[in-house]
Amino acid sequence: MPYAKIIGSGGYLPPRVVSNDQLAADLATRQIETSDTWIVERTGIRQRHIADEGVMSSHLATEAARLALEDAGVTAADIDLIIVATSTPDFVFPSTACLVQANLGAKGGAAFDVQAVCSGFVYALTTADAFIQAGRAKTALVIGAEVFSGILDWNDRGTCVLFGDGAGAVVIQASAEPGIIGAQLNADGSQTKILCAAGNVSRGKVTGDPFLRMDGQAVFKLAVNCLAKSAHEVCEQAGIALTDVDWLVPHQANIRIINFLGRKLHIPEEKVVVTVDSHANTSAASVPLAFDVARRDGRIKTGDTVMMQGVGGGFTWGSVLVKM
Ligand code: ACO
Repeated sequence: MPYAKIIGSGGYLPPRVVSNDQLAADLATRQIETSDTWIVERTGIRQRHIADEGVMSSHLATEAARLALEDAGVTAADIDLIIVATSTPDFVFPSTACLVQANLGAKGGAAFDVQAVCSGFVYALTTADAFIQAGRAKTALVIGAEVFSGILDWNDRGTCVLFGDGAGAVVIQASAEPGIIGAQLNADGSQTKILCAAGNVSRGKVTGDPFLRMDGQAVFKLAVNCLAKSAHEVCEQAGIALTDVDWLVPHQANIRIINFLGRKLHIPEEKVVVTVDSHANTSAASVPLAFDVARRDGRIKTGDTVMMQGVGGGFTWGSVLVKM
């Protein structure tokens, strides 16, 4: 059975950067109080990228995909599977993956979306890995893309300061050499209420609440415990020790969650990739964006063992172990 090897990556952030001070000033015009100090102390976030009106997940995904294809040295014609992880698709249907396929001029093969919120990318990567291992695909594009700014209640300071927009992508290919060496996915549907956007389009109207709602403290506790357990389980599955992991690329929700997790796993800070300060929480895009940053700046190298971890609404969580 072949392995799925990561042969390229790309990341794309919309050009408009909104600092905490800018956001605080904007909220102040609506008598909503926040500050750079509060946001940095509680979350580690200093700024986020926000897509302009009309820019959708497929646009960001296509840019990230183009960079990943270029980095991998393959063309759209080589791609026989596209999976986009997103909770903010352009449309109810067609899928964002089909829109990306058309934008890239790729033809043939499967294209579909995966919806597992902030765990979306690890879900999508695990799915693509299974296709490759089963011989049903040879070269896959796996993308996490979000325009979360569109589902935020900009009058709710408890959530609107936390998120940003962006997309990250990887190209994986069938290989005799180890690539993805372990994957572990989980869900607990009894926890839907702690993080949700419980609206829908029905009979021509939006019904329910179209905005993201969150119980921050419940999410915090569950996220740290679930990710720590999943890290141990995926290492056991792959037959490696946690100390063999060269890089932890966790979901970028909050620096305090990341630091707690690192301490719980005894992984030193210098082995943990952090982008939450500059990207904020980009949901399904956060892991591939962070991975791409660390690959391009030379931290993640050939031969390294990388653990990617996602956690988010559903409640969902999981880990993927990759030999580079
Ligand atoms: N600016 C200033 N004050 C604020 C803000 C803000 N942006 N948001 C909330 N507050 C206030 C609250 O109103 C409250 O005021 P009060 O004491 O007068 O009632 C006070 O700050 C404390 O509010 P809490 O919600 O209890 O703050 P907490 O310390 O829990 O921090 C946070 C909130 C940062 C969301 C925290 O719960 C957390 O880190 N949760 C993890 C969840 C997370 O990161 N979610 C991201 C999405 S989920 C995911 O990706 C997995």
